[in-house]
Amino acid sequence: MAPTSIVKNPEETQTQAEAQAQAKAKAPLKGNINKKDTTATNFTLQEDEVNELIQKLASIKPIGWAQAKTVASTGYDTEWVNKLPATAKERYTKHGVDISKGYPYIPTIDKIPKFVDEAFAIRNEEYPFIERGKNADPEKKALFGAAKDVINLTPYVGTEIVGLQLADLDDKQKDELALLIAERVVVFFKDQDLSPKKQLELGKYWGQVEVHPQVPRVGPDYDGITVIWQDYQNQRNGIGLSFQNSKKGNSTWHSDLVHEFQTAGITHLHIDSIPDVGGDTIWSSTYGAYDKLSPAFKEFLDGKTAIYKSAHLYLNRENPLKGPKHVEREHPIVRTHPATGWKYLFVNRAMTDRIVGLLPEESDAILNYLFSVIENNRDIQVTFKWQQKLPGLKSPSDAHKTYRGTSALWDNRIANHNVIHTNESIKGRHGTRVTSLADTGYFDPESKSQREALGLSLN
Ligand SMILES: [Fe+2]
Repeated sequence: MAPTSIVKNPEETQTQAEAQAQAKAKAPLKGNINKKDTTATNFTLQEDEVNELIQKLASIKPIGWAQAKTVASTGYDTEWVNKLPATAKERYTKHGVDISKGYPYIPTIDKIPKFVDEAFAIRNEEYPFIERGKNADPEKKALFGAAKDVINLTPYVGTEIVGLQLADLDDKQKDELALLIAERVVVFFKDQDLSPKKQLELGKYWGQVEVHPQVPRVGPDYDGITVIWQDYQNQRNGIGLSFQNSKKGNSTWHSDLVHEFQTAGITHLHIDSIPDVGGDTIWSSTYGAYDKLSPAFKEFLDGKTAIYKSAHLYLNRENPLKGPKHVEREHPIVRTHPATGWKYLFVNRAMTDRIVGLLPEESDAILNYLFSVIENNRDIQVTFKWQQKLPGLKSPSDAHKTYRGTSALWDNRIANHNVIHTNESIKGRHGTRVTSLADTGYFDPESKSQREALGLSLN
């Protein structure tokens, strides 16, 4: 795939939305999906017959929830609103979020795409993106100067900022934070007083905010704020997470939204309800994973592309009865980060399907090796405990009594992540996520790896 241009930071005051409106020139569509042909293998359906069939299927189980083992409800959930953890409820009450009609909210069946080509068409064109970290002060004086402390949790992955409220950051600090995230992969802020609307506003500063067609959200007026509530997801949608099956949903290694035309950049998860113990999240740096490879293997991978798939499934218009399909998108395997200029590996076990140009067996062997490098090297990972205080034997945690939550902001391009859940730790864990979409992803053959750029040993 040819490298795609990145829109440079034109004006400090320009918003992502203004930049998008300014450059309306459309890039050609990616992929090649035929919308017209409704011919099945042995018979032909007219378009109105197909539509009728799909509506019937969708009324049984909304398309996109096709993997759900139980019936998923759409619209306001009137049962689970009563199970919302107390601290999440306090946060919403304080910030005027009305959940009186139910919670969470899933778009109604008529709004959820039914065919894979409909889901593929969402944001299927190049739109401007301002890489906020690109022109930020490399010393980050505005951000670090205002913080009480800055704690690196490992040598090259994960930093905690202490004594700053995300809601109070000015644009200079937000630019510096974007650069810090691009360098350190993930940055944490504990004890945050953050409304969902403010979280959304921050996300819009860093890029076009992803609005998912069907995942649970705070309400119909909160497009772009995704509810992260695995207990709900597990019980309502039947993902099957249990003690013996603890690698399900976000408890598998993955990165978010890799089927997008422009993939996710800064991803901001704010956990507003935290069990006393457990539910830690691990991030693995794919800068680090790339640097673990030999020069010959790096050379082999540089310039190759792979096919990435969506988490959700949709019907194939050509043959709706054949079963659902993922949205698929092609991206470079090795990409260059626009802010740091460092090369990174862009693969993850859950959603990277196959390497273009290789035999299936070759692709599987290589991808499995790359996944193992990302997942098994503890020195390129950080494990984060969301609790503000951990309970001791004599002093129990008061985390369940306070609504002030913890934020993690990571760059989804340069990380895989994974939640360590047990039956116990998913109870009472709840949060909101806002994802800023970034560049289309490109490989610059002149770019260096992180360790090369920092002058560190590659042995
Ligand atoms: Fe995730």
